[in-house]
Amino acid sequence: MDWIERYLTELNDRNLYRERVLRKDLIDLCSNDYLGLRNHPQVVEEARKVLEEEGLGSGASQLVSGWTEHHRELEEVLARLKGTPSCVLFGSGYLANIGTIPALAGEGDLILSDQLNHASIIDACRLSRAKTIVYRHRDYDHLKDILRKERENYTKVLIVTDSLFSMDGDVADLATIIELSEEFETMVYIDDAHATGTLGKGKGSLEHFGITFRENIIIMGTLSKAIGAYGAFICGTEKLTEYLINTARSLIFTTSLPPPVCAGARRAVELILENPGWCDELRDLSEHTAKILKVLPAEVIYSGTPIIPIVIGEESKALSLEVNLRSKGYLVKAIRYPTVEKGRARLRLTVSLRYSRKTYEDFAEVLEGILSGM
Ligand SMILES: Cc1ncc(COP(=O)(O)O)c(C=O)c1O
Repeated sequence: MDWIERYLTELNDRNLYRERVLRKDLIDLCSNDYLGLRNHPQVVEEARKVLEEEGLGSGASQLVSGWTEHHRELEEVLARLKGTPSCVLFGSGYLANIGTIPALAGEGDLILSDQLNHASIIDACRLSRAKTIVYRHRDYDHLKDILRKERENYTKVLIVTDSLFSMDGDVADLATIIELSEEFETMVYIDDAHATGTLGKGKGSLEHFGITFRENIIIMGTLSKAIGAYGAFICGTEKLTEYLINTARSLIFTTSLPPPVCAGARRAVELILENPGWCDELRDLSEHTAKILKVLPAEVIYSGTPIIPIVIGEESKALSLEVNLRSKGYLVKAIRYPTVEKGRARLRLTVSLRYSRKTYEDFAEVLEGILSGM
């Protein structure tokens, strides 16, 4: 088993070694809990009540005995959030992607995938055995060129994109993608993991673009980010969810979400629906944070979203910044290859309503101090 040691040593030599850090006692400026909902008293209370009534786990998969009224109620409120006729739950965003994408496109079909899509989408495309062509990041002329050349050779074509890109914080132009999907008669799969609770008034990317749901759209979202829980869902037509219940292997062959998680998440989604102003508050806080960071000697990318990457470049420099910031009480992880391009290592700062302007102002001051001494 020496090869493991050699592999890890080599990773370390290249500054690509990864380790987990205990979050305890640190100001967490890299979580995806954009609205601070994981600690919201009403969310915690709902989960606690169901925990006491029903216990912890669901005991079985959705298709055996693991689909309860808490699962059903959560699906109903998620369909309302996304403006779709139907919704079905999955155990996580990773599972939703690797289960749904291969159910939609298989051998002999075509998938067109944005270059910066999340790793779970990349894995899903591989698992599907469909021909996958990666188009340049947010380059819809490129996407159109591929469609012009390839569309007629396939019966089923699926365009797949993150809506809010997790590592860069920029937003896919869904208006253009959906226009192309209509012109070329394709399906569109939108990974709304980071957009749910942060774009529009909280409903996500379709609301942001003022687009109403149509049948060729499949929306995936997670419960693990702004909703503050764990798990994921697919929203679409009734036929789609019926089909996934019958075909998506990562839904059929796995235990369903714990009922207390469903109850807490359901309350969190209701709170998002009841508080459409939260997204504006989050945008204001993100804009303020970006403005104070922009004066730093680093490349700060701000796309009007709460994901603000501070691109450092060299992996070793990003790592040493992470360690230095931790010693000053801030948890901001260095994101490195292969999650992002080599030589484009970054601190991925996320803005959350958990914290005030002052927190981000203090952080910027500390970061400036460290950068100027480097
Ligand atoms: C765009 C995107 N899709 C999918 C996932 C996977 O979601 P989950 O963490 O619920 O597995 C993530 C985050 O981890 C993500 O950023």
